[in-house]
Amino acid sequence: SVIAYGVILVAYLFGSISSAILFCRLAGLPDPREHGSHNPGATNVLRIGGKLSAIGVLLFDILKGLLPVSVGFYLELSPSEIGFIALAACLGHVFPIFFGFRGGKGVATAFGILIPMGYTISGFALGSWLIVFLISGYSSLSAVITALTVPLCVWWFRPEFTFPVALVCCLLVYRHHDNIQRLWRGQEDKIWKKKKSKN
Ligand code: G3P
Repeated sequence: SVIAYGVILVAYLFGSISSAILFCRLAGLPDPREHGSHNPGATNVLRIGGKLSAIGVLLFDILKGLLPVSVGFYLELSPSEIGFIALAACLGHVFPIFFGFRGGKGVATAFGILIPMGYTISGFALGSWLIVFLISGYSSLSAVITALTVPLCVWWFRPEFTFPVALVCCLLVYRHHDNIQRLWRGQEDKIWKKKKSKN
């Protein structure tokens, strides 16, 4: 329907708001695209040193997925229309029209699209991320392993959303190719690492 096209477009535009870049600017922190992993996401904002900003980025980027998909459910759009909304939100975050199509890796926004699909699925995703994170200390590894398992969970509990969620997860793994190479070489940063002493 025309309404669905409208929501898809708004989801993409809303997803294109790179909160990491904006929040760092507001907080007087350096540009996350030029520091740390060069990624405009919550993990890298935390790495740069903005604890509060990182929480803000995480919540804002989750909302970019959660809100448009919730609107889709509220308007009783079809599963495929809701799937396109979910995909559009994540594509906006990863390829933002307002920031030269160079965005983040899509983890928080992908989590956001899962929340309205049910607490079983979003709980599974959160649990998987936390378990891998608590064991390994790597944000990226947690995201990649979760992205590989979530489509199976969605296929089981909400089969109508398997295809869009699987696409989002493919995008997410693809956007982590640098992290995967660093993990492989043992050069990836853990979130909680000891600060290097200056001398
Ligand atoms: O939030 C994205 C995360 O999975 C990896 O981020 O900055 O370590 O590349 P980063």
